[in-house]
Parts: sequence; structure tokens; C-alpha cells
Amino acid sequence: MFPVLLTGRLLTLRELSRADADDLCTVYGDQKTVEHLSFSPRTWDQCVALIDSAMKDAETEPRRVYMLAAAKDGHLVGTARLALDERPHSAQIGFALHHGLWGQGLGTELLHLLLRLGFDTLRLARIWGARSPDNAASAAVMNSAGMIEEGRIRRHLWTGEAWRDSIAHSILSDEWSPPAPKPTAEQTHGKSCASPEIPDTEPG
Ligand SMILES: CC(C)(COP(=O)(O)OP(=O)(O)OC[C@H]1O[C@@H](n2cnc3c(N)ncnc32)[C@H](O)[C@@H]1OP(=O)(O)O)[C@@H](O)C(=O)NCCC(=O)NCCS
Repeated sequence: MFPVLLTGRLLTLRELSRADADDLCTVYGDQKTVEHLSFSPRTWDQCVALIDSAMKDAETEPRRVYMLAAAKDGHLVGTARLALDERPHSAQIGFALHHGLWGQGLGTELLHLLLRLGFDTLRLARIWGARSPDNAASAAVMNSAGMIEEGRIRRHLWTGEAWRDSIAHSILSDEWSPPAPKPTAEQTHGKSCASPEIPDTEPG
């Protein structure tokens, strides 16, 4: 499927382009942001190579890899990746946001947009993610989206310095429901917060 364009309340998931190189380098070149990921901070050249590879993947038919920009106010502030497994009813996801934006609910929305892509658009049966055992933020975001812990994948990755185990989380299509929309200002005024007619905010 090309091009991907999924819009949430705070973020948009869209295809990467060469114009994102500087912003991607700000995210992937940042030590704190990539601390729990499988790679060390990327150089500008590596970011450009990654974008070129993502653009090539986007044109491959059938498409198996969706390496996307998470954009806020038009600018890339993070990445979202969905890659079909060998058995293509299932896909692995990965996501990252620049550390300056953590703690504002963007990670939760980013994950929900990826699940929307996988379940609503691509009609997958299963989506999974693998995180570092030390990555508490990723655990919290995946747990609150209903991605349950499946177990530990031993020696899952070579970080360049050492082997790293991962904790796998997954969610099935029939376990997923999109987050309820936020109430509009009009709905909020004049109705009590406890009103059952007002949907709750995003889960988590
Ligand atoms: C994982 C990540 C996307 C979370 O983004 P975020 O915008 O901070 O997440 P949110 O603000 O939506 O927070 C979601 C939940 O995680 C919790 N959380 C966030 N950081 C946490 C931390 N360091 N420790 C424990 N819980 C944390 C929040 O309290 C919130 O909990 P709630 O749903 O109960 O309110 C972000 O930390 C990130 O990009 N990390 C670097 C890349 C990465 O690790 N990606 C995951 C690879 S598997």
C-alpha cells in the first residue's frame, strides 16, 4: 500500500522523503532517544541511506516494509516501522520519538496509529513488538495498548557490543479496538465528566 497517510489527534504517519533527513538525524542521532534501540546514534549519511531504503521498500510490490515518519506540525519527530513476517498475517512493529517529546501522550498515539495501519488497513491477524528488558517506557506504552507480554527472546540482538535479550509483546486483531475519540469542547461543556455519553479519552 502506497502512500500511507494516517492522521491522529497529535501526530500523522506518512511516507519518508529526502526532505526529512535533518529531522531524522535529530531523532536517530540522539543518544538518549536510541539508548534502548538496537543501534548506536546514526550519522547524517546513515539517515539518508535509511530514507533511500525506506523509499525503495515503499515501491516494492507486494510491500513488506513500512518505514514511516511520525510527523507533528509537518515535521518528522519520530519513526514508526511495520515489517511483515515470513508468514504475512503477522508483522513486527517498532517506534521512536525524540526524547524532548516524551511524556505527553504522543507515544501512545504513535502506537495506536501503527496498530490502525496493521489491523484496519492491512487486515493483519497479529502484531508484535520486541523491546529491551530495561525499556520501561516501551513496556508501559505497549501494555496500555493491550499488547501483552509473550516472553523473553534470548540473545535476540547483537548491539555491536553485546548480545541483548528482548521482551516480546503482541496483540491479535480481535483484541484490538481503536481508542475512543476525545470529546469536543462543545460536548464537554454542559455535560458532567461522568456522563456515560462522553467517550473516555485514549486508553492508558
Ligand atoms: C516508548 C516511547 C515511544 C514512549 O513515548 P511517550 O510519548 O513518552 O509515551 P506516552 O507519553 O504516550 O506515555 C505512555 C505511558 O508510558 C508511561 N511511561 C512513559 N515513560 C515511562 C518510563 N520511562 N517509565 C515508566 N513508564 C513510562 C507513561 O506514564 C504512560 O503511562 P499511562 O498510559 O499509564 O499514562 C518513547 O519513550 C520513545 O520513543 N523511546 C525511545 C525509543 C523506544 O524505546 N522505542 C520503543 C522500542 S520497542
